[in-house]
Amino acid sequence: MLAHTHVPDMGQTQDPDASLKAAYRPLRVPVLMIAAHGPEYPIVFANAAFLRMSGCSGDEVLGQSWRSIVGEHAEPEALAALEASLKAGEGHDAEFLCRRSDGASLWGSLSVSPVRNEAGRVRLFIVTMTDIGATKQRERLLEEQLEQKKVLLQEVEHRVKNSLQMTASLVLLKARRLKSPEARKVLQEVAERVGALAAVHRLLHGSSDSGRFNIRDLAAELVGELILALPEGQVELSLDVQPIAVPASKAAALALLLNEAIGNAVKHAFPDGRQGRLTITIGRMESDLAITVEDDGVGLDHAPPPEGSFGKTLMTMLAHQLKGRLTWHDMEPGTRAQVVLPIGAEETRFE
Ligand SMILES: Nc1ncnc2c1ncn2[C@@H]1O[C@H](COP(=O)(O)OP(=O)(O)O)[C@@H](O)[C@H]1O
Ligand SMILES: [Mg+2]
Repeated sequence: MLAHTHVPDMGQTQDPDASLKAAYRPLRVPVLMIAAHGPEYPIVFANAAFLRMSGCSGDEVLGQSWRSIVGEHAEPEALAALEASLKAGEGHDAEFLCRRSDGASLWGSLSVSPVRNEAGRVRLFIVTMTDIGATKQRERLLEEQLEQKKVLLQEVEHRVKNSLQMTASLVLLKARRLKSPEARKVLQEVAERVGALAAVHRLLHGSSDSGRFNIRDLAAELVGELILALPEGQVELSLDVQPIAVPASKAAALALLLNEAIGNAVKHAFPDGRQGRLTITIGRMESDLAITVEDDGVGLDHAPPPEGSFGKTLMTMLAHQLKGRLTWHDMEPGTRAQVVLPIGAEETRFE
């Protein structure tokens, strides 16, 4: 053991750093000393722990440039940054792929500290090194696992979307075969609601950031579907929707809310070919998200609500679920439905 820890001191007589080296020799932490002589910065001391870690003998290391300890896969920028610190006589911390004598590489965390002489000039650098291979390995494993989970989540979104779309199609097929207009309307509404949920999962599937999607895309998609019920040119559509990221946990409720509010304006506000304007605004109001669907149509009280109508009740329930507030305004003419809900830190603006 003693023989192993003995490192020749480059033949210098009266080595001024002899006591420093003696102190570092038995340390369990790998330690190197490099001379402050650029551009090579030769290694002048390596303790036993370093030799064990690198698999080198003292003869292989001493006199070599410090660069000999880092592998050929070390990032050039990181090397240049360390070299700049050496040149400036400053301390430096960095992580490198280091070379072992057996050709293998290991992840080392290097910490470089300058040692100055009495005149204040940097004489040498002490480099301590920690093998962080296990940590790097864990990091890599976690990254791989995360990536696999993302792929799986995307796949699930895709399947959920397909199932919902198929359900909507089945319900619509059945609706078309029914004689009773009442029953047909009921089934069509069910299909629309399922379709709105399918839209959410289509967006979640397409989103690069799984678990969030852009509410602007959702609004555009739902409006695009619903507006088809009106003849072209009858209603002027105005969409003013900020790109806001919405977490998947709120997606279903938001989609259904938008579907009901926009669906109502499209179905009820402009009867008998009445011309008008439909405005959908989604944006922030301080720390809240405000969703406004406004029309200049016939107004809420134009006709008594049909028996069993459920849309407005559903909107109230959804607003409650989102911890928001739903209000109705008579715009004379027209109707404004507004939901204001708190948005947490997980919602952020898309760039
Ligand atoms: N934007 C609107 N303009 C005019 N009337 C509306 C509007 N929204 C809702 N209504 C009226 O409120 C009623 C109830 O709406 P809702 O609860 O969604 O049920 P449904 O849409 O199934 O009739 C509608 O039938 C309609 O008379
Ligand atoms: Mg309705």
